[in-house]
Formats: sequence, structure tokens, C-alpha cells
Amino acid sequence: MRAVTPGLFISLEGIDGSGKSTQAKGLAAWLRRQGRDPVLTREPGGAPGAEEIRRLLVEGDPDRWSPETEILLFTAARRDHLERTIRPALAAGRDVITDRFADSTRVYQGATRGDLRGLVDDIHARVIGIEPDLTLILDIDPEIALARGLARRSGEDRFEDFGLAFQKKLHEGFRALARQAPRRCVLIDANRATEAIAADIIACVAKRLG
Ligand code: ADP
Ligand code: TYD
Repeated sequence: MRAVTPGLFISLEGIDGSGKSTQAKGLAAWLRRQGRDPVLTREPGGAPGAEEIRRLLVEGDPDRWSPETEILLFTAARRDHLERTIRPALAAGRDVITDRFADSTRVYQGATRGDLRGLVDDIHARVIGIEPDLTLILDIDPEIALARGLARRSGEDRFEDFGLAFQKKLHEGFRALARQAPRRCVLIDANRATEAIAADIIACVAKRLG
């Protein structure tokens, strides 16, 4: 039997309302036009059990969980997502595009409410242990992103409800992460029209696909 070449594992990251889900859909459509068969997924969620955990995390009061409890819940959801969706798809040769992955935990839980980055990294190493091949960080002015996100009022606004100062910290956190992992992470200027952002993303992915 011929060995299957694993698919490309891509994550989209950025603050709330930065355009991740819009761009994830566009990228999946482009990959399909190239004759590939991508799986488009998201975190928290991406598998039935993980979607149940998602509801606990994105609804309710901002102070519902401590950062430590959040790390455990997001990681539990991620492990389920990895076991049931990501690993089987990659093993079958399919590309995976995920709207958020571990970098969100590094920034949201690891760098905004005290320094918990060490705890995030330890838990990640023990129970997740993989990184995407490519991480596209949508870099946007937090005021623009917050206005876009809250305009949606999706009922999943627990993190938006932490406010602008929190979004500014997140923005800095994602930029710092891009500096720490320059081979994996690419910063994309997301203050522009959807099509311009999509063109940059496609150029990055096309390069990785060789
Ligand atoms: P995220 O998944 O990062 O929260 P979305 O893709 O859901 O972001 O976008 C948030 C809102 O902003 C949506 O209403 C979407 O239609 C809109 N939006 C996305 N990209 C752009 C863009 N480049 N310019 C203007 N509005 C955008
Ligand atoms: P998401 O649905 O991507 O929200 P948005 O469309 O507003 O960007 O994610 C839900 C929220 O969960 C979002 O505010 C970010 C937060 N989050 C974390 O705090 N840690 C994590 O590890 C992940 C995956 C998400």
C-alpha cells in the first residue's frame, strides 16, 4: 500500500473579530479549487464533545472561570478535537484549517491575567504535543476588531466583554508570539479589505505547498 502524505496543518489566530472565520472559509475554498480536500474546523470545538465544552467557555459572566480553570477546559476541548478530527484528517492526507489552536491559549490564558505561560506550555507539551505547520496571525487594530465583533452580538461574547484594554493586551501577545516562532507564524495585516487579506494568505499557503 502506498503511504499517504499527511495534509498541511494550518491555524488562523488573532483577536476576537479579526476576520479569522471569514478568511478560514476563503482559504478552504481556494484549497478545494486546487483539487485538495481540506477540513475546516475551529476551537474551542471542532468535535462533538469539544463543542459541549465550548458552551461552558464562551457563554456567561467574564469572571465565571479563573485563568487556570480555563487552561484546563480549553485543553480538554483541544485534546478531543485532536483525537477525533485533526489527527484522523491529517493521517488521511487531508489539509486541516483550524480557526484557533494552542496559540490562543498561550495568549488569552497565558499572557493577559498574570503570567501563566509556563503552565500553558507544560500542559500543552504533556497532552497536545503538536504545532501547526503554518500559523497565520491576523493582525488588526483592536478598536476595529472589537467594533466588528460586538456588532455581531452572537451570544458568545464572554471574551469580548473583557473590553478594549484586554483586546489590546491580546494584540501585543499575538505579536510577541510571532516574534518567538518566526518559522511557523506569519503576521498578516488584517486592517484591509477581505480580498487583500485573502490574497496574502493564499500566497503564504501556496509557498508552503511548494
Ligand atoms: P473572527 O472569526 O476573527 O471573530 P469574523 O471573520 O467572524 O472574525 O469577522 C468578524 C466580523 O467582521 C464579521 O461580521 C465579518 O463579516 C466582518 N469582517 C471580516 N473580515 C472583514 C474585513 N476585512 N473588512 C470588514 N469586515 C470584515
Ligand atoms: P472564537 O469562537 O474564535 O471567537 P471569535 O470569533 O470572537 O474570535 O473563540 C471563542 C473565544 O474563546 C474567543 O474569545 C477566544 C477564546 N479562546 C481562549 O481564550 N483560549 C483558547 O485557547 C481558545 C481556543 C479560545
